[in-house]
Amino acid sequence: NKSGKKRTRVYMDGCFDLMHYGHANALRQAKSLGDELVVGVVSDEEIIANKGPPVLSMEERLVLVSGLKWVDDVITNAPYAITEEFMNRLFNEHKIDYIIHGDDPCLLPDGTDAYALAKKVGRYKQIKRTEGVSSTEIVGRILASAKEIKVREGQECSSLHGEPHNLNSIQGEESRANGDHISHFLPTSRRIVQFSNGSKILKSARQLGDFLLVGIHSDHIVSEQRGMHHPIMHLHERSLSVLACRYVDEVIIGAPLEVTRDMITTFNISLVVHGTVAESNTFLNGKTDPYAVPKSMGIFQMLQSPKNITTTSVAQRILANHEVL
Ligand code: CTP
Repeated sequence: NKSGKKRTRVYMDGCFDLMHYGHANALRQAKSLGDELVVGVVSDEEIIANKGPPVLSMEERLVLVSGLKWVDDVITNAPYAITEEFMNRLFNEHKIDYIIHGDDPCLLPDGTDAYALAKKVGRYKQIKRTEGVSSTEIVGRILASAKEIKVREGQECSSLHGEPHNLNSIQGEESRANGDHISHFLPTSRRIVQFSNGSKILKSARQLGDFLLVGIHSDHIVSEQRGMHHPIMHLHERSLSVLACRYVDEVIIGAPLEVTRDMITTFNISLVVHGTVAESNTFLNGKTDPYAVPKSMGIFQMLQSPKNITTTSVAQRILANHEVL
């Protein structure tokens, strides 16, 4: 650069399984400790050896990490612990100045600190871990809602034929049950601004225009559409996760199901897009097509989804692993 000063390169590693805003917030803080952030994505084998199998594969975790706006470079198949050999590779080959990790203890199966070596040579820095979310906790939310569904199915089977279900009481129980695993996470306007700033690179939907606005449905709309056990992540959590993506310029926190004429005018929208893979695309032909207005205006387009993965397919992997079904 012009000043001739060397750019500080920092390294953060992790499993980044079921990518969540806690990971995004860790990477955001890591990036602020340097000029360039290199992220090591730990290999499937190393995760299995140190904490049990991840839900998402190396390839899937890599796509998610690379899509975050604070990430400049990635190292695939990183080791779980900073070994002498890997540390030298980071310093010499990748020109890393500091190795960063959250302020939670990261212990190896033998009880030793995974970052001990980096600490010893004074090349370790710490960021604040985000409370209230972790991959394990997300798996817990999915298992808890699967359990509730199983209990409910049991109850329905044993109820008398022809007896109408008391929907109100079912919904009442449900909201109480869901309250148990509601996240206490609340974003402040400062955190939203921190997540909003970032480098801009065009991709996919973004390539079709020069500003990508993402509408995030409210929790109420999601459970109406998908059933009372959804969403797994609440509106604020989903909003920050989407905002952490480098291709996103802005989010509507609590968008209605239908894209209305009002929205199109207010936000100056020139194209509305929807992926070919979704939890349910049946509505696209039905009466309640949420995209009826943009379609009638000739500004709707389907986008080929690059992968088949959905919330349901991820939940199925988790359930298969835990043999709940
Ligand atoms: N991290 C964080 N806040 C969280 C979760 C993770 O700051 N709520 C940080 C970790 O401290 C680490 C990085 O994100 O520096 C990558 O974490 P990862 O290896 O994926 O694992 P965990 O710490 O086990 O997080 P999780 O349980 O969510 O997988």
